[in-house]
Amino acid sequence: MKDKKENIILFGGSFDPIHNGHIRLAKAASRMLGGKVFFIPAKAPRWKHPSASPNDRENMIKAALNEINDPSLCFSDIELKRVGETTYTIDTVKEFKNLYPDSNLILLIGGDSVNTFDKWKDAEEISRLTRIVYIERDDTLVNEDNALRFQMEKLYYTGAGPVSSSGIRDLRTMDTPLSVIDYIEKNNLYFINNVRALLSHERFIHSLSVAHLSYDIALSNQFMNPDMAYIAGLLHDIGKNVEEKESRMLIEKNDPEYKDLPRYCLHQFVGEYFAKEKFGIENPLVLDAIKYHCTGKEHMPPLSKIIYAADKIEPTRGYDSSALIKKCKINYYHGFLEVLKHNKKFIDSKPNPGEKNKLSNQCFKSYLRSYK
Ligand SMILES: [Fe+2]
Ligand SMILES: [Fe+2]
Repeated sequence: MKDKKENIILFGGSFDPIHNGHIRLAKAASRMLGGKVFFIPAKAPRWKHPSASPNDRENMIKAALNEINDPSLCFSDIELKRVGETTYTIDTVKEFKNLYPDSNLILLIGGDSVNTFDKWKDAEEISRLTRIVYIERDDTLVNEDNALRFQMEKLYYTGAGPVSSSGIRDLRTMDTPLSVIDYIEKNNLYFINNVRALLSHERFIHSLSVAHLSYDIALSNQFMNPDMAYIAGLLHDIGKNVEEKESRMLIEKNDPEYKDLPRYCLHQFVGEYFAKEKFGIENPLVLDAIKYHCTGKEHMPPLSKIIYAADKIEPTRGYDSSALIKKCKINYYHGFLEVLKHNKKFIDSKPNPGEKNKLSNQCFKSYLRSYK
């Protein structure tokens, strides 16, 4: 007879923070195994020391699930509510068994957990009470003995993507729902304080605005990684507070051909150095976008065009830029050309020729020659 019991999939972890890889995996597990997935954040995971508090991790999961609004994805605070410092999976399994006595419990774990599973408390009993399903990770070799001993099944799913919670904490990726990004910003989690420390309050607000607008433009133009636009936007002005003398010394060392450019654009170069040194940014497109956001240049990659435009038109700039924003969202390239045209008019109207520079001139020449 066919087993008609409902499946309940238990998905535990630190979720520090939750990201789109977790969500893609949970959706796939729900679809492939059939059943609801419960995100169960651990209060104090045995193997990890979370950076965000249990309360913040809970709020981020709730915000993400609320934004996604998929009835097959649920939240459980069973482990967070448990008394005592260390929480064990066996206790969670037993509690779920009591709550849902007529359901099949499926325990979803990562490939790395397969390898340590024999050391988990009451591992045999967990295996008896649940069907254990694991997802292999590219960077982990699974211990076949444990998989066999505890009757684990492999879930053939590889679409979670390269995102990781540590990648978000370190600002290497921001592939997480927007509501989680908002929460990180509002609650000063992870990298936010390091960005704040380099900027005045006004400049920080401007940078957040550039980050969000750049993300939106990249998303509406169907970029593969709109989160790179967020990162470049957030960091684009981090060189702003450095004195002129020090900036020129840094530029002389790293990019001597730019050492005589006007003062107002020096921060774009310093910003690139800081992005590498202080935040470990290695993505060449993010670095290029920061390095030329103020002046532009010839042959700008798409991301650099977006950051250039978003910097000039973000909504806290104090003028009505809504038509330009709309244009960028429809077609970033046409929007960029329009912003460039406005900026050229503005620079041409300045009485001081020293405000002009070779990079901007090359940029105008290369993109505006045939554009009216
Ligand atoms: Fe700037
Ligand atoms: Fe800026």
